[in-house]
Amino acid sequence: MGGGETSAATLKKGIAEFYDESSGIWEDIWGDHMHHGFYDPDRPASLADHRSAQIRMIEEALRFAGISDDPNKRPKHIVDVGCGIGGSSRYLAKKFGAKCNGITLSPIQAQRAQALAETEGLADRVSFQVADALDQPFADGQFDLVWSMESGEHMPDKRKFASELVRVAAPGATIIIVTWCHRDLSPSEESLRPEEKKLLSKICDAYYLPAWCSTADYLHLLESLSLKDIRAEDWSQYIYQFWPAVVRSALTWKGLTSLLRSGWKTIKGALAMPLMVEGYKKDLIKFAIITCRKP
Ligand SMILES: C[S@@+](CC[C@H](N)C(=O)[O-])C[C@H]1O[C@@H](n2cnc3c(N)ncnc32)[C@H](O)[C@@H]1O
Repeated sequence: MGGGETSAATLKKGIAEFYDESSGIWEDIWGDHMHHGFYDPDRPASLADHRSAQIRMIEEALRFAGISDDPNKRPKHIVDVGCGIGGSSRYLAKKFGAKCNGITLSPIQAQRAQALAETEGLADRVSFQVADALDQPFADGQFDLVWSMESGEHMPDKRKFASELVRVAAPGATIIIVTWCHRDLSPSEESLRPEEKKLLSKICDAYYLPAWCSTADYLHLLESLSLKDIRAEDWSQYIYQFWPAVVRSALTWKGLTSLLRSGWKTIKGALAMPLMVEGYKKDLIKFAIITCRKP
């Protein structure tokens, strides 16, 4: 593990406040998905491509996990763990005609997600609430697709996080975790190098993240929970265009004026964007998809 050390309660409060403060400006500039885009590595994306790359991320995750479009097999009840303003929930609900429950720590996000669901005529089957992924407000075995798009990196207790995903999953359900990891350690290493830990620690401070883990750590964890069909892939090469684009969008007139009107947490997050670029360039940060099935 590598990165920052903060108490769980302080971290939760920081995450809620960070997203309360920054979600409006993100939505203004980037739309309703707060996750990386998925790009063709050799084709530079134009401005218009970024939002479609974020949709592509959802589609690629479904494809990797083998989620079927077949009306008899497609998901019927989905949980969106760490839902942001509900972009994935609404997309998946429409795509599959499914019910979807989203949870976030941010009251502003939950309200906005609900308002957008109402505007889009989805309020009868898509709903959002403020709740902790480590203590989910759902009965056991309810969901046939458990979706966590870029929320796992915020979870201070990865075992509890994974156990909750498994608990709410129905038998046979697919669990999809798309998350930031640090690089796998080599057999001779016991931890990351000091300069790597230092970089992650600065990122943790800016984005309210606890200690990071590697994709291999996740795989061991899921194996220890007796999950089936556990698979992972490093998608870093597909997302590397994303952070430079976010930096560029922050440097536009609209980006700068919005930032100046926002609060300190948002500005601190913007100042840390180049650190993400550096982390990926140094092969320290890995963008991972990890999927499995509950037996
Ligand atoms: C980077 S955003 C991703 C949002 C969304 N999945 C998307 O793709 O647009 C991270 C989300 O994780 C949520 N989150 C972080 N820690 C959480 C926790 N312990 N319980 C519930 N949600 C959490 C945040 O509130 C935020 O909505």
